[in-house]
Amino acid sequence: MICAIVGRKLKVYDSFEGLPPTTEGDPIAEKTFAKGFIPGLFGGSLDEVKGNIERFGEVASCSLHPGWFEHSLPHHEGKIAMMFLDVDFYSSLHECLIHLWPYLAPGGILFLDEYTNLPYCAVFYSEKYWQKYFSCAPPGLLGVGTGVQLGKIYWDPDVRQDPCQIRSPESVAFCIKGTQALWDFYPDEMAEGAQAKTSAAP
Ligand SMILES: C[S@@+](CC[C@H](N)C(=O)[O-])C[C@H]1O[C@@H](n2cnc3c(N)ncnc32)[C@H](O)[C@@H]1O
Repeated sequence: MICAIVGRKLKVYDSFEGLPPTTEGDPIAEKTFAKGFIPGLFGGSLDEVKGNIERFGEVASCSLHPGWFEHSLPHHEGKIAMMFLDVDFYSSLHECLIHLWPYLAPGGILFLDEYTNLPYCAVFYSEKYWQKYFSCAPPGLLGVGTGVQLGKIYWDPDVRQDPCQIRSPESVAFCIKGTQALWDFYPDEMAEGAQAKTSAAP
């Protein structure tokens, strides 16, 4: 509906068959698999999704692109102003990044739904990853609402009927194309600093 208002298109990429089988070495997929993951989870058919958009959105502003990301995303065309990734697996995130990040316009925003999975978020701070695939510094990732995903948070103290007020943080996160997250910490330098301090001490 927002796309209709601002005169843009929403491109929707999905298998419309749910999640793919897990790939070995995928930290998120293995975690889910250990819990009894079944391929096809979250599946909604093309017709079902289209019907929902017709009821609640503006189907004329959307184009739907069914298929596994490795097949559909290489055919993407056109600059992207904003993208929202909610794809669960690390391998799926990787497919989205390598195929879509180059189309994100400078200043464009990437939203990510998986802020609760640290290995997933770490990609956005990995100098190695961004150097290898995009020859640039990592963009970083900021949480919308709950801050960095470290341990548990105390949430909503006023909801007395909810006995479980300690929650895992859940949040959408974002980064902006053009920002750089530089990790200006080197243990060697810290050790040298510590030595200098010790030798200078009386
Ligand atoms: C948790 S669902 C979220 C879907 C949607 N954002 C929603 O909230 O209804 C994750 C989606 O990612 C899709 N997906 C994950 N990996 C995929 C891949 N490699 N190729 C195509 N679709 C994929 C699944 O089909 C599923 O619809």
